[in-house]
Amino acid sequence: MSSSSVRVRAADSTSFLVLNACTRLLGAVYSNISTVLIYAFIFVWDLVLAILNLVLPDKRVGEVVPLGRGGIWPAYQPPRLDQEKSDSRCSCPALNTLANHGLLPRDGRRITFKQLSTVIRHSFNFGPTFCFFVPWFAANILGRSYWSDSFDLSDLDVHNGIEHDASLTRDDTYHSPNQGRPAAHLIEFLFSHASGAPNSEFPSAPTLTASDLSETLGKRRVNARAKNSQFSLSTFHKMFASSNAATMVHMFGGSLPDLRTFLLEERLPLGWETKCRRRFGLTFAEFNGTVLKIEMGIHENHDVMMWRLGKTPKNIETRTASSDGGGPADSGAFATKKDS
Ligand code: HEM
Repeated sequence: MSSSSVRVRAADSTSFLVLNACTRLLGAVYSNISTVLIYAFIFVWDLVLAILNLVLPDKRVGEVVPLGRGGIWPAYQPPRLDQEKSDSRCSCPALNTLANHGLLPRDGRRITFKQLSTVIRHSFNFGPTFCFFVPWFAANILGRSYWSDSFDLSDLDVHNGIEHDASLTRDDTYHSPNQGRPAAHLIEFLFSHASGAPNSEFPSAPTLTASDLSETLGKRRVNARAKNSQFSLSTFHKMFASSNAATMVHMFGGSLPDLRTFLLEERLPLGWETKCRRRFGLTFAEFNGTVLKIEMGIHENHDVMMWRLGKTPKNIETRTASSDGGGPADSGAFATKKDS
């Protein structure tokens, strides 16, 4: 090979590298700018809706959402779990429930992100900001386009994407790789913390309050940290955990009988309607107040200190699979009842 052709090739590969670097740089700048613009737009839009919600009357009971109007929901069918034709399910009880009622595809597959936005808005009355942002965020985590792509429910279970350790309704992925099924022993543990005043619908059942949720989340974090050698929980995931917990207050009013059906069977009770009747749905501005209250109410350090001192916190005792109706034996020590 002559020295001139070697020089031409070297020049070609240099210009290719420069072009490639420029294209990537421009792509990154564009994506960062569009992300900042989307965040700014959501923030302003949400604020406007929150103000409108304050001045306009709430929607009337029985007429809050177009899907399940008056509490009549499409028929519930549990997911098919046989090997051949198993339905796709995930760590989110709400999305599984929507699929179990056929409001999302019953097989939980090929759901477009845009479809998810509409269905959540029209079933739970989340505000349009939340209904756009969360599916958009999920699409980004999966490296897909919100505008044109789809997903299967189980895709959302990518560990430490949105799904995380120390959940209220699922054993950690380390103990239970299939995140599509509720962990009954954890859900009963959560219910055992309900201390709020009963509502008029169920006068003999206590309700779950924000502080009950903080207490349970704190205990779950201590226990999961102690029992899961691969435990991790970033600040972002802590906030997401508190956000998920806050939906139980805003959408269900902490009502135990309703939450029992929703979390254990992933079904909407007959006659159930979301408790959020805001004209423009639940905004981040309102929702985040509860999220922060829950997260700030978690006092994990106290329990961790007790653990380090070798003292089991007085309200925590170890249960095994046999005493817990078959939950994973190593899923952790946890309290059987609320602190006195
Ligand atoms: C907008 C689309 C949504 C996406 C992408 C989504 C995704 C998720 C994911 C990945 C989890 C698992 C987190 C964990 O590891 O604990 C989760 C949990 C949960 N989500 Fe959703 N979700 C959505 C909408 C909703 C809605 C509308 C509600 C309420 C009505 C809801 C209520 C919950 C609850 C109660 C949990 C359980 C939290 C726990 O076990 O600690 N989600 N969600």
